[in-house]
Amino acid sequence: MHMNKEVIVSGIQPTGDMHLGNYLGALKDFVDLQNKFECYFFIADLHSITGDNDPQEKPKQIIDAVETLLAVGLDPKKCTIFIQSHIPAHTELAWIFNTITPMGELERMTQYKDKSGKQKNNINVGLFDYPVLQAADILLYHANFVPVGADQVQHLELTNVIARKFNNKYGEYFHEIKPYIQKPLRIMSLTNPERKMSKSEPASTINIFDEPEIIKKKLAKAVTATDAPQGQMPKGVANLFSLLEMFGSMNTLHKFKKEYDHGTIKYSELKNAIAEEIANYFAEIRQAKSKISGNKKDTYLILEQGAAKAGNVASRTLRAVKEKIGLI
Ligand code: ADP
Ligand code: TRP
Repeated sequence: MHMNKEVIVSGIQPTGDMHLGNYLGALKDFVDLQNKFECYFFIADLHSITGDNDPQEKPKQIIDAVETLLAVGLDPKKCTIFIQSHIPAHTELAWIFNTITPMGELERMTQYKDKSGKQKNNINVGLFDYPVLQAADILLYHANFVPVGADQVQHLELTNVIARKFNNKYGEYFHEIKPYIQKPLRIMSLTNPERKMSKSEPASTINIFDEPEIIKKKLAKAVTATDAPQGQMPKGVANLFSLLEMFGSMNTLHKFKKEYDHGTIKYSELKNAIAEEIANYFAEIRQAKSKISGNKKDTYLILEQGAAKAGNVASRTLRAVKEKIGLI
């Protein structure tokens, strides 16, 4: 067993196709981390139902998210992969944490304010309580580090507040967690290079499982003609170059940089080249995904084993917590 390895916990919501931003901002790091840490990666299905939920679509989205984790290279021999709702300890600990979390702390959460602005007809208690469930997700496994995007850091600070409150009230038990943000990089939208690429605007994204022709079509529509101060590269063009830098070869990058400097660049050629390089970059992952999707039995087995392993750790924590708070 990896008793002395530090622990990593992270969850992703099963909400639609993963795009380049999700890949570089999260998934790719997970794959590296599984080699160095004791890792728990899960699909945050309970978090996802605080948004608009379609019960017809949900099972597909959940399995798709698991298959995505496997396709990008998470190895169930190296890390524990499971579905949050398969382990009741998550919601049970969240309830216990509810009783020590001040309302005021949750009212400050910017994600709650953002989301309740966007889903005005569905401002549910779960949306408000979301960060408390997240704290339970993390503390059940005594995480040391939590890889997340910058938008989640406030939730991790709250996790530490809850851990300290618990320790003060019931005796030292939880230790502090730290966000793990390897590179604060943002992939920008194809349609509006001032904004980040985001699922909420499908035309802005390239998804990691998009077929080559789709990538080509989306890139063909990418914005290049944005205003820029004299002598500066327009934002849309800079965005295309940064995609080439991240997913393409040095040769192609140099070729187009030179053409840009000489004023001979043709953006349609640049876009086609980028489309091709991105399609190549993800070719193996696309293949892996289609193989995994055709073999649901193996995926369910991985989830069963993941839930058994995570469930053991989670129950031990929950038992200790209940003892400390006087539940018998
Ligand atoms: P979206 O905005 O597409 O809904 P999420 O908010 O669900 O994405 O983010 C999931 C993960 O992917 C987070 O870790 C987040 O930081 C990362 N991520 C999302 N969009 C980008 C982006 N454009 N560039 C870099 N990382 C991103
Ligand atoms: N809230 C996270 C997001 O939207 C997902 C998440 C749920 C999570 N529980 C977590 C991330 C625990 C890290 C640790 O991206």
